[in-house]
Amino acid sequence: MINAAVLGACGRMGSLIIENITCSTNMQLVAAFDIGNIGKDAGEFAHVGNLGVQISDVKDLETVLKKTQADVLIDFTAAGATVVNAPVAAKCGVNLIIGTTGMSQEQRAVIDEAIRKNQVRAVISPNYSVGVNVFFKIVREAAKYLSDYDIEIIEAHHNQKKDAPSGTALRAADVISEALGGKEYVYGREGIAPRGKEIGIHAVRGGDITGDHTVLFVGNSERVEIRHMAHSRQIFAKGAVRAAEWVCGQNPGIYSMDDVLGL
Ligand SMILES: NC(=O)c1ccc[n+]([C@@H]2O[C@H](COP(=O)([O-])OP(=O)(O)OC[C@H]3O[C@@H](n4cnc5c(N)ncnc54)[C@H](O)[C@@H]3O)[C@@H](O)[C@H]2O)c1
Repeated sequence: MINAAVLGACGRMGSLIIENITCSTNMQLVAAFDIGNIGKDAGEFAHVGNLGVQISDVKDLETVLKKTQADVLIDFTAAGATVVNAPVAAKCGVNLIIGTTGMSQEQRAVIDEAIRKNQVRAVISPNYSVGVNVFFKIVREAAKYLSDYDIEIIEAHHNQKKDAPSGTALRAADVISEALGGKEYVYGREGIAPRGKEIGIHAVRGGDITGDHTVLFVGNSERVEIRHMAHSRQIFAKGAVRAAEWVCGQNPGIYSMDDVLGL
């Protein structure tokens, strides 16, 4: 049985992940952390009844991870939180599933270093849905054939999302850039802004949109649009739990959802 801990347990994603852990036959929730609701039962936020696992203060991360013998910590919080907490978990020998987006290159480097130094296993992905990872693969292929077309990425999310553009839009841009040998990115356009050979990236925020991503390849008399639309956050939660089950059986290292899904 895999012992799982969830960081950001009261959040939109954390609570769904806990719900999904309760459906797993080979994983059990042993710890849940957040910055509020300390002492309440984690099942309350996941709407799955009493689980007998109290929300612990993130300040007690090290002590509780050790005490509960957690094998893996699933973290969907905020960049400033993940950069502090992931190294603590790695130091405790706990494997990591990181879903937090909006990390800077410097923050990501700190996390990567802690994972490598402590020889733990980790999956880090801006998007845990199966469909989005297939979307990346299709986008990569299309880019090879449509390299001289103008490329724009448009993403839309709910009005509570903190970071922009989304980690998924940035990953789609990186996938295209890697396929084409390096591209400049332009975020939105304003004023006198003639188009070059860049990838344009645009963020829409409103209401309760779970997450839409469209990549446009626009030529002179035609355009190709590749789109993924998330209907529910369940796709991310299910993917994160699948990644957690998978990663515990791997060699130490940093993996992506491509590795988990065998893409
Ligand atoms: N990778 C993916 O597939 C995927 C999918 C959806 C969301 N996300 C990302 O996951 C993150 C969380 O999204 P959400 O919609 O659940 O947000 P949310 O605001 O609903 O939840 C975040 C939770 O983290 C907690 N938190 C904040 N700082 C903390 C800290 N220092 N220690 C412990 N807990 C802390 C908050 O109290 C809250 O309960 C965001 O970065 C979002 O972009 C990733």
